Amino acid sequence: MNKQITLALTGASGAPYALRLLQCLVQADYRVYLLASSAARVVLKTEQQQEWPGSPKELSAYLCRQYGAIDGQIVACGKEEWFSPVASGSAAPKQMVVCPCSMGTVSAIANGTSDNLLERAADVVIKERGQLILVPRESPFSAIHLENMLKLARLGVTIMPAAPGFYHEPKSIEDLVDFMVARILDHLGVEHELTRRWGYARH
Ligand SMILES: Cc1cc2nc3c(=O)[nH]c(=O)nc-3n(C[C@H](O)[C@H](O)[C@H](O)COP(=O)(O)O)c2cc1C
Repeated sequence: MNKQITLALTGASGAPYALRLLQCLVQADYRVYLLASSAARVVLKTEQQQEWPGSPKELSAYLCRQYGAIDGQIVACGKEEWFSPVASGSAAPKQMVVCPCSMGTVSAIANGTSDNLLERAADVVIKERGQLILVPRESPFSAIHLENMLKLARLGVTIMPAAPGFYHEPKSIEDLVDFMVARILDHLGVEHELTRRWGYARH
């Protein structure tokens, strides 16, 4: 397995996007370093009725079972696991997605706080000039949110708000989730057939 990526979940609404993205990355043979903030766990419980194991080792095993991944393909990391590969430019994956991304985490990343492993991992991807994709969800955005996102966009970070389109005629929530996940996979360069593309025949 030579493709690797960091997937971080934070406490914005939109846990289904993250779970579907994780499934697609596993199916595409990525090793996924997984980070989840405390608030992300609250959102997971609220939106998906999922309570993940607390210890990174148990969470890794649980998610590998859940997604049919091979042992070690999903590596959950604790928020102060400073010796994780994602904490250093010498070892971190060059691609990272924060999905969903809270305004709190947008601010921490925009200000280089690096106060936990998730924020440090994003800081590393920016400094190493890798690919960082944020999937923020808030409405409306305040000037603080917009300024933080503009700062990041100017640094080359991709701001991809959780704002699914309707031109693929979604019939279900899964269709809306797939719309967003498809756009994220497109940017990552992962092949998929999740949704019909713009300009292609309707049926
Ligand atoms: C169920 C739930 C939904 C939330 N939705 C959002 C949201 O959509 N966007 C957002 O920026 N914050 C949202 N929050 C608030 C964040 O979780 C909170 O600001 C938290 O401190 C973010 O921490 P984190 O960035 O470390 O995950 C939500 C919180 C809960 C419990």
